[in-house]
Amino acid sequence: MDVYEAVTSRRSVRGFKDEPVPREVLERVLTAAAWAPSGSNIQPWNTYVLTGAPLVELKTCAVERVAHGDQWDERQYEMYPATLKSPYKDRRSAFGRERYSALGIAREDWEARQRAAIANWNCFGAPAALFCYIDQGLRRPQWADVGMYLQTVMLLLRAEGLHSCPQMAWSQVRETVAEVLSPPEGLILYCGMSIGYEDPLVSFPRTGRVQLDETVTFVGD
Ligand SMILES: Cc1cc2nc3c(=O)[nH]c(=O)nc-3n(C[C@H](O)[C@H](O)[C@H](O)COP(=O)(O)O)c2cc1C
Repeated sequence: MDVYEAVTSRRSVRGFKDEPVPREVLERVLTAAAWAPSGSNIQPWNTYVLTGAPLVELKTCAVERVAHGDQWDERQYEMYPATLKSPYKDRRSAFGRERYSALGIAREDWEARQRAAIANWNCFGAPAALFCYIDQGLRRPQWADVGMYLQTVMLLLRAEGLHSCPQMAWSQVRETVAEVLSPPEGLILYCGMSIGYEDPLVSFPRTGRVQLDETVTFVGD
């Protein structure tokens, strides 16, 4: 698979088969992803990979907790600014409209939206997940490094015939994740990621992108 195909075929998959992902494939992907760039090569990612019984345990605890209506864990970072301005606000609204209408959920049907959201903590059925932490002392450029690393992981997963879904949703139940992973003090759970083989029976809306000239400015010839 060439890089263009990996980039354009990557999407956030929200329905996986329960077919296990071989450990050696995950090791190959994460070994190659470590070649992602980072400022001064500090490689600020701390990744935990979860499969098998520990992942089942985590999914069960997290889903039960959310279904029970427990409070989210205290935030370690703001997912979005309290007031998201245009054009970001409009793009987020468009995403929500497309996603919920594809699921047949009315905008005001909060319960149905919650049910759909709960699938996050079941990893959308995926048999593997990773959890990426960053040291709390690091700064915005290092968070950007971690983003580059995670995209590298997702593209390499495509090269292996796998799909993924990055999930900040896991940060909302980070203490439940920590009970299973026991990360050292001082790490912030930035993002989880479900990993597996796509279930072709689960339909999805393909997200769009704005026109190039809305986000890119060419200066010169
Ligand atoms: C850092 C990050 C966190 C995300 N968190 C979630 C999440 O918690 N749950 C979810 O279903 N999708 C999540 N997404 C997926 C986005 O909704 C998705 O990337 C976006 O709508 C574009 O769609 P695409 O990935 O299919 O191209 C996340 C994406 C990123 C990059």
